[in-house]
Amino acid sequence: MLVNAKAMLDKAVAGHYAIGAFNTNNLEWCHAIMVAAEETQSPLIIQSSMGAAKYQTGYKTVKKLVNAMYKALDLTIPVALHLDHGTYEACLECIDAGFTSIMYDGSHEESFEINLKNTKDLVKRAHDKGISIECEVGSIGGEEDGVVGMGEVADPDECAAIAECGVDFLAAGIGNIHGVYPENWPGLQFDALAAIKAKTGDLPLVLHGGTGIPDDQIKKAVDLGVAKINVNTELQLVFADATEEYVKAGKIHEGKGFDPRKLLKPGYDAMIAKTKEKICLFGSDGKGWN
Ligand code: 13P
Repeated sequence: MLVNAKAMLDKAVAGHYAIGAFNTNNLEWCHAIMVAAEETQSPLIIQSSMGAAKYQTGYKTVKKLVNAMYKALDLTIPVALHLDHGTYEACLECIDAGFTSIMYDGSHEESFEINLKNTKDLVKRAHDKGISIECEVGSIGGEEDGVVGMGEVADPDECAAIAECGVDFLAAGIGNIHGVYPENWPGLQFDALAAIKAKTGDLPLVLHGGTGIPDDQIKKAVDLGVAKINVNTELQLVFADATEEYVKAGKIHEGKGFDPRKLLKPGYDAMIAKTKEKICLFGSDGKGWN
């Protein structure tokens, strides 16, 4: 059975490691991410953006695919199905569709007061159904599936106010960006992270924009209380690169190289390898149900 993400993230804070939250796009993504997590015996958060869910014909389809694959692969690790960067309405839909975890991204609302009010409302609705909930303060720079953020660094007092609503984990902007980091990116703002941690105690913190953050900065962020790290673009890149290589090597026309099961295989294998690499970097390998 898919689980709520709270217990695994609380354990990650206590154990000083982070759990990867990998974005799924379709069957290949879902399969690769699950196989990588099972083979490394890591707890897993598999998440869908609103755009990726729409592409797959909706939240109910995503839920059914993830749930059926979890059972068919006979996974022995805890897996949570999470909504990534949801609007208020998307959160309601995912609660209804049977997601086990949601993220309300209120950073795009007109004011912090609206973010706070909707957060309180959604915390109650999610918890009434045993679903975990992540909320956001500040914003993640860059663009993900049409959601654009300006990259404001989170105000620690606003983080404390959102934490008091009973959220299970908190995404706070600390200079992180969705997508590939520009050459002149100054790095994560650790002073801001430490100030947020001081106001939010043991609440698991979430680092978005996991693609391309140098390993030493990932490790420092985990030391400062980050327990969930989101990775999306990096899997897309390794999938695209491996597929390009296959096509450029002329393999499409070797025998039945055009068969989608062959054409998509190098990208699928590359995603398994990258997901395992991230899990080991984040330190959640071997943590399973422990
Ligand atoms: P990247 O695409 O930069 O890995 O970010 C993923 C993310 O933060 C999803 O919310």
